[in-house]
Amino acid sequence: MKIQLDILRREAAGAEPYWQSFMYETEDENATAATALRELETTPELRDIDGKPAAPVRWECSCMQKKCGACAMIINGKPVLACSYQLRQAEGGKVRLEPLSKFPVIADLIADRTPMLEALREMRLWLNERTKADETVNHIAYDASRCLQCGLCLEVCPNFYTGGRFPGMAAAVPAARLISVLPESQQAELYRAYRRGIYEGCGKSMACRNVCPAGIDIEGLLVSSNAAAVWKRRIFRKKDSGGSR
Ligand code: SF4
Ligand code: FES
Repeated sequence: MKIQLDILRREAAGAEPYWQSFMYETEDENATAATALRELETTPELRDIDGKPAAPVRWECSCMQKKCGACAMIINGKPVLACSYQLRQAEGGKVRLEPLSKFPVIADLIADRTPMLEALREMRLWLNERTKADETVNHIAYDASRCLQCGLCLEVCPNFYTGGRFPGMAAAVPAARLISVLPESQQAELYRAYRRGIYEGCGKSMACRNVCPAGIDIEGLLVSSNAAAVWKRRIFRKKDSGGSR
């Protein structure tokens, strides 16, 4: 398989972006965009498609197994994990790679997702004390715990932008996890932050649910969190029959 990789490059933060193309050849029919990037990164004396010397392509990865979220980027116009994008699906043998667009770019395909993590801090999404797990809401905590903090949901969200008030689903999902396990004493503060940041900020487009690589039931988590933090009802419990009440 021979694939042309068109990569939107930047030497450093604030530098002018430019496109650079590379030819990637492999026998592996399961090769992914991440496999190709790893080769570009490690090729000594890398050359572009015209044979000109090129600097190593900078990008982020860790697990290479769709588990860590580090390799989130835009491939052929869609927000995906590079390690989940199989090159054989590329139409016309070409793949276009760009960094996430909602965050400042550090270099090449590396976006600075600090604002996403700052939102967790601002909403104080952590436990101050041990809690006893309630088996009837374990499914909520479990589903929410699968969030990779990749930021792909923010890319497609019409209401999220860096510096805005809405922290997006990357914060709403951990908030749902906390809401499901939080002791009474800490609920008021979290519920307030949830109502102000997430309930009032989400435009309910639900574009996020189509791109989440973890397949999290984002809508279900929102229903559950809204029930508790906005409508003061019990969150959905497995043994209940009809959602929140
Ligand atoms: S909710 Fe899904 S898309 Fe959003 S950060 Fe978590 S894993 Fe990524
Ligand atoms: S490298 Fe971990 S999700 Fe792609």
